[in-house]
Amino acid sequence: MSLLALSKNSSFFRVSRHILEITTCNTRFLTTTPSQKAQTVASASAGSIANKDPLVKTFSIYRWNPDKPAEKPHLQQYQVDLNACGPMVLDALIKIKNEQDSTLTFRRSCREGICGSCAMNINGANTLACLAKIDRNASSTKIYPLPHMYVVKDLVPDLTHFYKQYKSIEPFLKKKTKPKAGEREHYQSIADRKKLDGLYECILCACCSTSCPSYWWNSDEYLGPAVLLQAYRWMIDSRDDYAQERREALQNPFSVYRCHTIMNCTRTCPKGLNPGRAIAMIKKEMALE
Ligand code: SF4
Ligand code: SF4
Ligand code: FES
Repeated sequence: MSLLALSKNSSFFRVSRHILEITTCNTRFLTTTPSQKAQTVASASAGSIANKDPLVKTFSIYRWNPDKPAEKPHLQQYQVDLNACGPMVLDALIKIKNEQDSTLTFRRSCREGICGSCAMNINGANTLACLAKIDRNASSTKIYPLPHMYVVKDLVPDLTHFYKQYKSIEPFLKKKTKPKAGEREHYQSIADRKKLDGLYECILCACCSTSCPSYWWNSDEYLGPAVLLQAYRWMIDSRDDYAQERREALQNPFSVYRCHTIMNCTRTCPKGLNPGRAIAMIKKEMALE
């Protein structure tokens, strides 16, 4: 992966780490063995941490344990020295879990905004913990699970219904004809491929759907912005033969038309996508039929 791509997708911290790793690889052959290099890097970072005064910040984190039903959900406070912690909220959560409270439960995987699993509500906004920088000036940060979802435990929301809705739009290429003998790929012009930009990048983190007031109140029937963005992604794919059927499946008062263009979804998307626009495009195409 290029450094440019890294700087787009990751924090400065990870770019620096990547540069450090490249530097380590390049100099390995010139001067030191890998273990010597690792020792040097470890002692350098330990030294720089030791030289800094502690900068303690409080994280107030939503706790609820299904195994203790008598205990009500509550906020639990943890103190973290930011000078001994990575720069992102996910770094702080991992540090708390590793060093203070192993019972704290949250989802995470990639640590760079790709998998969508660390979505949560941080200081009132739905976002990805691995892309959310810790505010070093504020004395505390409040962290809740994604709003208006059933909670499995602590910061883990139950996404069963969300994925059921995703499955309902049949998010895969559908053809009416069989491929000809020897045909292995479905070709697409550069212009048609460009139409998928701003849609294919969706990582299904559910930040947008769980920030949508219409989804809060009607999620049993309204599909919500994440799933509708995906539905539009398949509708406009030039290789797919079922655009009309896909639109017909949404022709009812709830699936699409519960969107009232409030645009919370677009404001909150941590990938900078515009699900509100995708929904407007679906409505426009349906109105023209
Ligand atoms: S549109 Fe954005 S906020 Fe919504 S699921 Fe996709 S990546 Fe997440
Ligand atoms: S634009 Fe539509 S989908 Fe997005 S938050 Fe508003 S009502 Fe929800
Ligand atoms: S851990 Fe994968 S998106 Fe945050």
